[in-house]
Amino acid sequence: MTSVLRVCLVLVLLAGCTEPRSRRCQAVCAREAECRDTVENIDNFDEGECLDACAALERDEIAEKEDFLRAVSHDLNAPLRNIAGMVAVIMAKYRGVLPDDVTHRLERISANVQAETSLIGDLLELSQIKTQPQKRQVVAMNQLIRDIAASFEDELADRKITLTIHDTMPRLYVEKNRVQQVFQNLLDNAIKYMDRRRDGRIEVSYRFVDGGHQFSVKDNGPGIAPEEHQKIFYVFRRAEDPAVAKVEGKGVGLAIVKNIVSNYDGSVSVTSELGQGATFHVIFDESCTRPPEESRFANSESRIEQQMHR
Ligand SMILES: Nc1ncnc2c1ncn2[C@@H]1O[C@H](COP(=O)(O)OP(=O)(O)OP(=O)(O)O)[C@@H](O)[C@H]1O
Ligand SMILES: [Mg+2]
Repeated sequence: MTSVLRVCLVLVLLAGCTEPRSRRCQAVCAREAECRDTVENIDNFDEGECLDACAALERDEIAEKEDFLRAVSHDLNAPLRNIAGMVAVIMAKYRGVLPDDVTHRLERISANVQAETSLIGDLLELSQIKTQPQKRQVVAMNQLIRDIAASFEDELADRKITLTIHDTMPRLYVEKNRVQQVFQNLLDNAIKYMDRRRDGRIEVSYRFVDGGHQFSVKDNGPGIAPEEHQKIFYVFRRAEDPAVAKVEGKGVGLAIVKNIVSNYDGSVSVTSELGQGATFHVIFDESCTRPPEESRFANSESRIEQQMHR
């Protein structure tokens, strides 16, 4: 391909990306460099081919990451299981004989092994969100959120936190367990970061916004400084506020939330100021009110329509 043609290709890609940028176009732009190499040999380039090339690249990358994570988690888990087993045997056999400080140290080893095992489990889960989709089913969102709230009953009572869940919420076709994880993580955060001395309040609400179903989890806890808003959605990143940092956490929960909602062409964001509480918004694409087959049909129809208008 001549360099003139290459420049044209870049211009075509960029020209298609003027505001408003379509998601398809953003994907092309994000992968443009790799995509350009892949489509170099294609004589009649079009955006569809570039998207297919991008999708293939992405599939390869995901499969590679998945293999890597599976191998790492297996290799890390095996010795951990071994350590846990030996500690359990020693404690069972010599309990009552061992000095207290040795028993205490063994208990700490056991707790640390458990924490590591759970972290590895979270990482594996994170890697599988994209590669192992679960069956979508119709879920009454209000009921789902109420059930999760019920599982936090003791913590809420213990910390004297009032939780309000709005009644009017849609039924969505989603992967139930994964969407459960979304709200479990958001509620877990709202509760655990709440200052114990406060009159804690958490509110879960819903509204339809442009193109999507928006659920918001609002708390009156310590809040998050604006410069931390982006980073907390990346794995292992936590806010630096000392009041929050002293609460135990792995920094994985919001990365899981972000990955799950992205499976629904959705998004997660936060609005907050330090000391002013935080509101997390998750948006699921509007197509989630339709069964997956119907949405796919609707999408392919609109794709054909787009092609006809090209
Ligand atoms: N409601 C909240 N109020 C204040 N800070 C929050 C809130 N939710 C999240 N954060 C900040 O965002 C960071 C990332 O949250 P995330 O849920 O990913 O990890 P975590 O809670 O630290 O650990 P875990 O993986 O166990 O959930 C937290 O460490 C905290 O600094
Ligand atoms: Mg968390």
